[in-house]
Amino acid sequence: MLPLPLPILALVASAYAQFGNVSDYAPSVNVQCPTEPLVRLVSPQNQTLNAQEVAYLNSRSASVLPSQWQAWIGDGSAIGYNLSAFSGKLPKISISVSGGGYRAAQYGAGVLEAIDARNESAKTAGTGGLLQVSSYWAGLSGGSWLTGSLYMNNWPNVSDLVFGNGKELGGWLLNLEMPTPNGYNIFDDKNQNFYRDIIDSISAKANTTISTSITDPWARMISYHFLNGTNTDNFYSGDVEHGAGQFWSRIPATSSFAQLFPPFPIVVADSRPDGQNTTYTPLNSTVYEITPYEFGSWDPSLGAMLNLTYAGTHLVNGQPANSTACVTGFDQAGFVMGTSASLFNSYLDSFSGADERALAYLLGRNITEDDDVANWPNPFQGLSSGTFQDSQHDYLPLIDGGLNLENVPLGPMFLKARGLDFIVAVDSSFDTDNTWPNATALLTTSQRLSTILNSTHQPFPPIPANAEAFVSTGTNRRPTFFGCDPTQSPPEWPLVLYLPNAPPLDGSAPAANTNTFKLQYSQKHTVIILEQVFNNTVGGFVPNTTGADPNWPKCLQCGAIDRSRYKTSPVTQRSSFCQTCFTQYCYDPRNPPSQSELPGRNFVYEDPDPKGLTKAESDFQRHEGAILGGAIGGAVALIAAIIAFLLWRRHRKAKKYAAVHQRSESDVLPLQGISHQPDPSYSYPNMPEARQVQY
Ligand SMILES: *[C@@H]1O[C@H](CO)[C@@H](O)[C@H](O)[C@H]1NC(C)=O
Ligand SMILES: *[C@@H]1O[C@H](CO)[C@@H](O)[C@H](O)[C@H]1NC(C)=O
Ligand SMILES: *[C@@H]1O[C@H](CO)[C@@H](O)[C@H](O)[C@H]1NC(C)=O
Ligand SMILES: *[C@@H]1O[C@H](CO)[C@@H](O)[C@H](O)[C@H]1NC(C)=O
Ligand SMILES: *[C@@H]1O[C@H](CO)[C@@H](O)[C@H](O)[C@H]1NC(C)=O
Ligand SMILES: *[C@@H]1O[C@H](CO)[C@@H](O)[C@H](O)[C@H]1NC(C)=O
Ligand SMILES: *[C@@H]1O[C@H](CO)[C@@H](O)[C@H](O)[C@H]1NC(C)=O
Ligand SMILES: *[C@@H]1O[C@H](CO)[C@@H](O)[C@H](O)[C@H]1NC(C)=O
Ligand SMILES: *[C@@H]1O[C@H](CO)[C@@H](O)[C@H](O)[C@H]1NC(C)=O
Ligand SMILES: *[C@@H]1O[C@H](CO)[C@@H](O)[C@H](O)[C@H]1NC(C)=O
Ligand SMILES: *[C@@H]1O[C@H](CO)[C@@H](O)[C@H](O)[C@H]1NC(C)=O
Ligand SMILES: *[C@@H]1O[C@H](CO)[C@@H](O)[C@H](O)[C@H]1NC(C)=O
Repeated sequence: MLPLPLPILALVASAYAQFGNVSDYAPSVNVQCPTEPLVRLVSPQNQTLNAQEVAYLNSRSASVLPSQWQAWIGDGSAIGYNLSAFSGKLPKISISVSGGGYRAAQYGAGVLEAIDARNESAKTAGTGGLLQVSSYWAGLSGGSWLTGSLYMNNWPNVSDLVFGNGKELGGWLLNLEMPTPNGYNIFDDKNQNFYRDIIDSISAKANTTISTSITDPWARMISYHFLNGTNTDNFYSGDVEHGAGQFWSRIPATSSFAQLFPPFPIVVADSRPDGQNTTYTPLNSTVYEITPYEFGSWDPSLGAMLNLTYAGTHLVNGQPANSTACVTGFDQAGFVMGTSASLFNSYLDSFSGADERALAYLLGRNITEDDDVANWPNPFQGLSSGTFQDSQHDYLPLIDGGLNLENVPLGPMFLKARGLDFIVAVDSSFDTDNTWPNATALLTTSQRLSTILNSTHQPFPPIPANAEAFVSTGTNRRPTFFGCDPTQSPPEWPLVLYLPNAPPLDGSAPAANTNTFKLQYSQKHTVIILEQVFNNTVGGFVPNTTGADPNWPKCLQCGAIDRSRYKTSPVTQRSSFCQTCFTQYCYDPRNPPSQSELPGRNFVYEDPDPKGLTKAESDFQRHEGAILGGAIGGAVALIAAIIAFLLWRRHRKAKKYAAVHQRSESDVLPLQGISHQPDPSYSYPNMPEARQVQY
């Protein structure tokens, strides 16, 4: 493409938007660099937020938030306050949604539905409204899919977003298995169309000389489900862009954002430590955030932000090597979501020799380090050379935001400059035997804040000492406030609300504690997950019972407004209604609660829709024992399926081979191949054209 100036590019893009194509996944290289600096430096002493982020926040707190507070809690009298006394002193609130694949996206959606004032039953319950008074929203991995879907689809309500609205929203289409949407025969025509279009996207990107990796097909698969434009009817059509060419930096151009409806979004990704075995990512490895405006890290070891529009540009000491060779269009929304959910490296590093050989057999080559991370051309080369781990590198090796165990994206919310008062942690991590969270994410962020980030971030409030203590106090199984009783004014830490994924109150079988690698859900299953999560989010708990707490929605209002009290002079007393709430819902380290107060819960997952499986699904389940052998088995199957598309170009020759050798096509299905020891004597035909592209 000619190096047109940006405004002209934008015009061209919008004029031809309806003729989008999967190859729009390719970034534009050789773009004229702007004269303004592309990178800005931040430090503990000079922690400046992006000016456009500040402008968005300020406009919302002036013209949107006061009326939304009024709409949510009225004049405040129902919870014992006078809202008008808090005018100009309203708390700054954020919501962080954890990773955990489709489970996390659906858990986050269920919580969102329960706090969204646009949902009549949430509004009636009294929880609907928290979303509207929030200033920030963060997602990571599966939580970033929900985030991207919400913002790239113009901030619809949950039910339209997830199930489609029969008009411009196609829904998440979770009934179509992510890597093999038309069933497990990868040589089926529709699957082949799907792989062809994914290959076209990735070839187009690889053609620009920017390195691709497993994250790229993964990003494209995610796009089909979470981005605008794909529906049941056009899923296999090559005439639709399937999310290619939808950019994270274009979120501000959506009409909902322009009208200041949503909170300000942030997505988190980690970085692979240099040359290390990344089954374990240490806390000192760089953590990045991606906003609609910037990409970078507040970690003192780096402290730099790049203008997101120019992500993909390789900069040295903040300067482009060639002022006519900047890159735009790298910030594909699918790639941002794929980066935040890029966990292959961790699984590949923990593979056994047999798994590795099986993968090498499928791929026709060994996986190298660059293949299994999200490759971002390094815009920070040469910066912070004493402390920044990738200061010497051409590429940043980005990985899943949860791999350092901070599976809830809380870090950005504790940044001092953001000044958050009330932070909601929406956690559906897979920590315990039955796939429930045990607050490892909170413990890890707390530890990172008190060490690496102690000069740049607010501290975490007091929490139980370890996962065992979270479990024994039951604070990982019901809504809990942390940090209710600061010793200073202004408080030394924000108030944190923990909303962990937990079984239904009434002892009925849970449907929301599914495996992270479950990549297909029947619509009925999703409906039940959303309803169970909704019920829990509006239900609170009543100690020693299996019932919901009718006061909880007002208690949530008490928590949300609480920090306003410290902004008045003198400090406003906590109301007696809210004090009662806090006695029940706050974690008091001197008087910890007990998990025995949460009786009668059923922790064991039960498939709510066993008959809803398609034939392909039940085929898969029959083979599942063999495929999902060990703990890592699920990941092997997933990765194998993701790279299944690599076999696409081998289709014809494989067919010929099958005919000659009397083998059925299904014998070369990767899902089955992977469950056996690879047969070293069986070699795929050489397909040089497939190798030209760097995967
Ligand atoms: C700079 O990039 C342009 C393409 O935009 C290329 O034609 C030119 O050769 C490059 N200059 C250098 C010094 O690499
Ligand atoms: C602080 O950082 C901003 C950019 O992030 C920069 O414009 C400003 O000059 C810096 N201020 C100081 C005192 O270094
Ligand atoms: C989604 O795509 C349709 C056309 O396919 C377009 O009219 C609409 O504006 C898009 N929505 C967003 C949020 O980009
Ligand atoms: C890649 O580049 C080559 C040569 O410039 C071109 O022939 C081919 O069509 C391109 N492929 C894609 C998918 O853009
Ligand atoms: C990124 O650069 C473009 C071109 O200079 C500018 O218009 C835009 O405001 C910049 N974005 C940010 C977040 O600074
Ligand atoms: C990485 O470490 C894990 C656990 O320590 C070990 O099982 C695995 O073999 C290691 N992988 C590599 C590639 O060294
Ligand atoms: C993978 O690596 C092993 C050992 O390093 C080597 O023996 C094998 O030939 C490689 N496989 C491929 C497909 O390159
Ligand atoms: C992280 O800490 C380890 C030791 O604990 C050290 O070897 C490593 O260099 C550190 N990495 C960074 C990026 O600071
Ligand atoms: C908590 O979760 C972590 C994994 O995130 C696990 O290693 C640990 O054993 C769990 N501990 C308890 C007490 O559940
Ligand atoms: C911050 O943490 C570091 C350890 O990472 C420690 O050496 C330092 O004393 C801490 N600073 C403060 C103010 O607590
Ligand atoms: C949610 O709660 C409502 C009202 O208590 C109840 O009728 C419904 O069955 C619950 N849904 C699920 C899936 O548990
Ligand atoms: C719950 O029951 C336990 C033991 O039966 C009792 O000690 C505790 O006080 C009860 N909690 C509440 C809040 O009633």
